[in-house]
Formats: sequence, structure tokens, C-alpha cells
Amino acid sequence: MASLAAALARRHGVDPRRAALAGWLHDWLKPWPAARLRRLLSRYHEPLDAPTRRLPVLWHGPAAAAWARNALGVRDRGVLDAVRWHTTGRPGMTALDRIVFIADSAAADRTFPEARVTRRLAARDLGLATRYALASKLAWLWSRGTRPHPEALAAWSREAVRTTRA
Ligand SMILES: [Fe+2]
Repeated sequence: MASLAAALARRHGVDPRRAALAGWLHDWLKPWPAARLRRLLSRYHEPLDAPTRRLPVLWHGPAAAAWARNALGVRDRGVLDAVRWHTTGRPGMTALDRIVFIADSAAADRTFPEARVTRRLAARDLGLATRYALASKLAWLWSRGTRPHPEALAAWSREAVRTTRA
């Protein structure tokens, strides 16, 4: 997803090096098995909230941020936060947060229709693409009977206000 993140950053006036770094950190740890991510999180004493602890699919975000800070010395708080929260989103997302969230939701290897729509929207409007990707993700989770992470719901509440004002 690093290449999509960098491309979106260039298109929307965000430093593409920061977006590429966030994407690269993500892509490096994404394939790791849950047990390895758990060991890394505990080595760096990285606390996880209870909903995240229950969902190993979310662990690569906080693990990548902890690894970047502790092992690589990355100090860019915006990059670290964008990586940490890229799966759920969070209220008050920055442009970099949106780019990393969208790049993850709509990376080229994601072939479902919502990913294609998100990529198209993101070329024009980061906010609209974020709202669409977030709504799609929540709808998918609910359709499977999975409770979304509270940060995703909080992000949606904030984004929905933006939608009604638009
Ligand atoms: Fe991810």
C-alpha cells in the first residue's frame, strides 16, 4: 500500500515521503503472524486496548508503530499515529491519517468493488473517500455480526457530521 499512499499524498499536497514511510512500515509487518506481532508488542511494552487485544487482525498497526519508534528511531508522531490507527480510523483524522487509511482499504490487491470505488473517490476527495471506506468497512463488519472497534465508530460519528454539513 506504500505506493498508493505516496501517490495519494502527491495528489493532495501531503509530503509523499511521510506517506511512503507510513505505508512501508505497514507493509513490512502486515504479513507477520499474530504470535510474532504479539511478541513484538510485548517486547516494546506497547499497550493495546481491550477491543484491539481481541482482534489480531488489528495488531499490525500498533506493532508497526511500536517497531518504528523503538527499533528504527522514527520520531514523526504523525507517521506513527497514521500507522497505528490505519485499520480503524479515528476521530479528527489528519490528511496523512486519511491517506494511510484509504491506501489500506483500497490497495491495488484489494479487488472487491468497494475498494475500486474508494480508489476513484480518493483521486478527487480524501474526505469523501474516507467516509465511503469507513461506511463500507462498518457495513461489512455488521453484516458478519462483528462489533467494530470503538475508534472506528467514533471516527464514523465525526465523519457523519462532516457529511451532513457538506
Ligand atoms: Fe493494514
